[in-house]
Amino acid sequence: EFDTRSDLMIFGALGDLARRKLFPALYQLERSGLLARESRVLALARKNIDTEEARSLLATHLQDRIADAELDSEALARLVGRVEYQRIDFSEPSHYEGLNGWRDGSSNALIVYMATPPSLYGVIARNLRDSACCTRKTRVVVEKPIGHDLETSRIINDQLADVYREDQIFRIDHYLGKETVQNLIALRFANNFFASQWDQNHISHVEITVAESVGIEGRWGYFDKAGQIRDMIQNHLLQLLCLIAMDPPADLSADSIRDEKVKVLKALKPITPDLMETHLVRGQYAAGSSLGQSVPGYLDEEGADRNSTTETFVALKVEIENWRWAGVPFYIRTGKRLPEKLSQIIIHFKPAPHYIFDPDQKHLANNKLIIRLQPDEGMTLQILTKDQGLDKGMRLRRGPLELTFSEAFGADRTPDAYERLLWEVMKGSQYLFVRRDEVEHAWRWVDRLITTWSDHDPYPKRYASGTWGPVASIAMITRDGRSWYEDA
Ligand code: BG6
Repeated sequence: EFDTRSDLMIFGALGDLARRKLFPALYQLERSGLLARESRVLALARKNIDTEEARSLLATHLQDRIADAELDSEALARLVGRVEYQRIDFSEPSHYEGLNGWRDGSSNALIVYMATPPSLYGVIARNLRDSACCTRKTRVVVEKPIGHDLETSRIINDQLADVYREDQIFRIDHYLGKETVQNLIALRFANNFFASQWDQNHISHVEITVAESVGIEGRWGYFDKAGQIRDMIQNHLLQLLCLIAMDPPADLSADSIRDEKVKVLKALKPITPDLMETHLVRGQYAAGSSLGQSVPGYLDEEGADRNSTTETFVALKVEIENWRWAGVPFYIRTGKRLPEKLSQIIIHFKPAPHYIFDPDQKHLANNKLIIRLQPDEGMTLQILTKDQGLDKGMRLRRGPLELTFSEAFGADRTPDAYERLLWEVMKGSQYLFVRRDEVEHAWRWVDRLITTWSDHDPYPKRYASGTWGPVASIAMITRDGRSWYEDA
C-alpha cells in the first residue's frame, strides 16, 4: 500500500502540456478512483483569472478532449472541484509567499510539476525554496528538453540540484510511461527463454523505428533549434535502446534499473567522422502527401527560415561496445512526415548453426521478434514450421506466434503515458524517470554526433513527405546485407 495523498502544484497550468496531457491524465486517474480523496491541485499561470474561471475553462477543455465513451461527468466535477487557481509571475519572489498558505499545514506529499520552459526551472525552484515552500518530502517533476547539449543540461541540473536532492527530481521521458515500453522489462527478465538468447551469440541485429506521420505541428520555434536528434534520439530512442540492451538489473528498484541503463550509454561507440558515410543519415521532409492529404515541405512550414538545415529524420547504425553486443548493430530511425505513426522494435535472431532444409528457403531461416509499441500494442515471434500437406515434403513456412495485448487481455483502453507517470510520482517511485547521469551520458554521445555532422556535412537529404525518409537510409542497411523490416 502506498500513500498517494498529494498536493499538486502545476506551474504553467494553462499551457499546452498541461491542457493536452496533465489534466486529461488527472481526469483518468480520478475516473478510475486512483486520486486520493485528500489530493488537491493548485494551478499556477500568468493569466489574470480567478479559480471559478479557471475551473470552467478546465471543464470545457476536458469535455472537448475526452472521448464520449470515457466522459463521466461526476468524475469530471470531482476533479475540477479539487483545483484552485492562482495567478503568478514565475520570476517574482513575492508571488510565492502565499503558496504555503494554500497547503495550510497539509501532510500530503507536495508535488511541484514544472510544465514550463526549462529556462524557468531554476527560478521556480529557487523561489519555492526562498519562500520555504519546499520540504524534504517535495517531489519535483520536469520535462525535456533538459538542455540543448551537455553543457546547458548541466546548468539546468545544477539549478535543480541547488534546491532538491536527486531522489526528489522526477525527469520525464514519456516513452518510459508507455505500457509496452515497460513490457520490455517484463519480456526480457521474466522469460528465461528470451533472457538466455539475448546477446551476440544469438542475435544478429536489432531495429528500432519510431515513425510519425505528423510534421512539426506549428512548433517551428522549438523544433528548428532542436531537430529530430535532440527531440527524439537523445531521449526516447536512446531510452528504448537502453531497455533492449541493458544487463539484467538485480531488482526493480529505480537505481538498479538506471545503473544498468547508464552502462549501456557509456558503451555507445561514438560516431566519428570516418563513420559518417556508413552510420548516419539525416533527412528533411519536402512537400508530399500525408495520409492522403497534400502537405508542405519543412521549409514552407509557418514561420520557417528557408535556409534551415535542421533534420526531421535520422537513421543511425549504433554499436555498443561491450561483451553482450559486440558485432550486433542497432539500426535506429525516426522521422516526421513518414507514411504512418508506428513505433516498433525488431530483434533479428541468428540462423541455426547448420541448415538442412531446402537451399532455396535459406533466407527464411531466422527468427524475428517484433515488438509493437504503438499502435496495436503487442508482439509477434516469427517461427519456422513445416508447411502443411503431403505434397509439401519438408518445405518450411514462417508463421507468427502472436500476442496482441488488447485481444489477449481484453483491456478496453491503454492508459496514456502521463497517467502512469503521474501515478508513479504520487507513489514516490522513480523507476520510470531519468536520472541525471543518464541525461548527461546521452548528451555526451549526441553532442559528438552533432559536431561530426556539422563539421563535415551539415546538409540533410530531402525526402518527400509520406515516404520512409531519404533512400540513403535504405542504402545504410542494405550495405550490410539487411533491410528494414516490412510487415508483408
Ligand atoms: C515528443 C516530441 O517528445 O514526442 C514530439 O517532442 C513527438 O516531437 C512526440 O511528436 C512523440 O510522442 P508519441 O507519444 O506521440 O509517440
